[in-house]
Amino acid sequence: MYRTHTCGELRLPDAGKTVTLAGWVQRARDLGGMTFVDLRDRFGITQLSFNMERDKALCEQARQLGREFVVQAIGTVRERESKNANIPTGEIELIVTDLKVLNRANTPPFTIEEETDGGDELRMKYRYLDLRRSSIRRNFELRHRMAIEVRNYLSAQDFLEVETPVLIKSTPEGARDFVVPSRMHQGEFYALPQSPQTFKQLLMVAGFDRYFQIVKCFRDEDLRQDRQPEFTQIDCEMAFVEQEDILNTFEGLAKHLFRSIHGLEFDAPFPRMSFDEAMKSYGCDKPDLRFGMRFHELNDFVQGKGFKVFDDAELVVGVNAEGCANWSRKQTDALIDFVKRPQIGATGIVFVKWTEEGLKSTVDKFFAHEQLQHWAERFNMKQGDMLCLMAGKAERTRKQLNELRLHLGDLLGLRDPKAFKPLWVIDFPLLEQDEESGRWHAMHHPFTAPKPEDAQKLIDQQDLGSVRANAYDLVINGTEIGGGSIRIHDRAMQEAMFRVLGFTDEDARYKFGFLMDAFEYGAPPHGGCAFGFDRWVALFGHRTDIREFIAFPKNNAGRDVMIDAPSRIDAEQLTELGIAVKS
Ligand code: AMO
Repeated sequence: MYRTHTCGELRLPDAGKTVTLAGWVQRARDLGGMTFVDLRDRFGITQLSFNMERDKALCEQARQLGREFVVQAIGTVRERESKNANIPTGEIELIVTDLKVLNRANTPPFTIEEETDGGDELRMKYRYLDLRRSSIRRNFELRHRMAIEVRNYLSAQDFLEVETPVLIKSTPEGARDFVVPSRMHQGEFYALPQSPQTFKQLLMVAGFDRYFQIVKCFRDEDLRQDRQPEFTQIDCEMAFVEQEDILNTFEGLAKHLFRSIHGLEFDAPFPRMSFDEAMKSYGCDKPDLRFGMRFHELNDFVQGKGFKVFDDAELVVGVNAEGCANWSRKQTDALIDFVKRPQIGATGIVFVKWTEEGLKSTVDKFFAHEQLQHWAERFNMKQGDMLCLMAGKAERTRKQLNELRLHLGDLLGLRDPKAFKPLWVIDFPLLEQDEESGRWHAMHHPFTAPKPEDAQKLIDQQDLGSVRANAYDLVINGTEIGGGSIRIHDRAMQEAMFRVLGFTDEDARYKFGFLMDAFEYGAPPHGGCAFGFDRWVALFGHRTDIREFIAFPKNNAGRDVMIDAPSRIDAEQLTELGIAVKS
């Protein structure tokens, strides 16, 4: 038997027992007469104790142990003289009587402790060492507990977990597909699913009624902290439902997770906000409601007073940074530099401060004091506050102000990772238009139904920008955790949608004929949603980088630096696949 106990298990009542432990050497401390070794496994750390007087040979053997050696130790549990209150096993130690090295280890390239000195790339290259760190391991314990609670909740609601295939045909979710060449059908390719969207709809046609799956999805898109090329969704679909049923069911899931994981009760329904309201008041479709700073517009007060920047603008809009009237010139200049960065591309900010001396703006030349008072009223400004105003094209300016608002939120410490503010954003437009090409794209995906009152507009291709959908996103703390919609379940409507998106009838049939055929065999009204599981776990772990919650993630260039993928394949394999690589 390799061990009788784990390294996290022994306590004071075990004193006197003879036990066997196995694990990794976290650290060995040689104090002359005594040597102490911290032995680590997934469950914790136990101190091994060696004494020169008691057993010289054994003590010398312990001194030879290097970091991360794999060892087995037999000994007696004893109460420690100097206790360590920081670890659960801190009251005991093991007086070792027999020590065996099960495997030696090279010196690890970074320290394997709660905090490490290893940089990102190195940690990813030796991810199996990084995963030994308790701070990372805890992320996977959280992930595991959340997966169990998701299954518990959905199973109790009669959802059936069904696996869908991975080698499929394109399911468009707005990214590029990863494709897999077929050997048996040369020149033909499978696509990896961007989501199981079409399959879950087919399961509704099949009468499964309530489906879910914790499932890998694949998207070839630019990576960010909250985006990986392969990630996991909690994917769900329900038949015979309206939007309200879906929101209630999944608000229930969210509340169950808040309760079971964090012990948090959300008695009131989650707030809901229309897409239009979110864009107008926060400049984005996923507002972070942990803090206020709602946008207010000032066009009616500020235009026609001779200040060209405001006069020429489609929109003059701002936020009130409460308590910032005492900010220095250096601090406000830094805000201007922030919004001027190429990623944001704004031209500047107009500030209004309300200090002890009254209201003062950076554009006092153009605006009398009474005018500033009107602005202050609109923003509910008090003495001590500072307005930040931006001007320009409406959509662009709102986006820029959103960046500034979030930045101010960070600077002012208003985005507490331990506070949770969920929100449903509803009433999304069905379509969005590409400014350059004029082409229409599905805002969610092409299977989203228009609201019944707007359906005719889609069929007639009239006023497409005003067509709304029963589509919704769950946003928590400014992160899009999930989204979904009521679906089209009628062939003619689906064909109309594909036409609007620029598919020829032939192309639509080639790509999605199977789904439209299924709609002709008794498709029930249905809808659903999918949640980004990695994002949700990261959020519950109070972090923003989802890689910390994925065992073997890709780096920002989409590479797995540990196994070195993607990589070239043999010429022979290419020949078998009928593929030639150009360069
Ligand atoms: P959507 O594309 O909004 O919807 O995806 C659902 C959720 O998945 C998460 N997500 C990601 N997480 C990590 N890395 C990525 N690259 C990534 N892309 C998306 C987000 C997102 O909210 N089939 C529809 C759902 C439906 O309509 O039922 C879909 O996939 O948290």
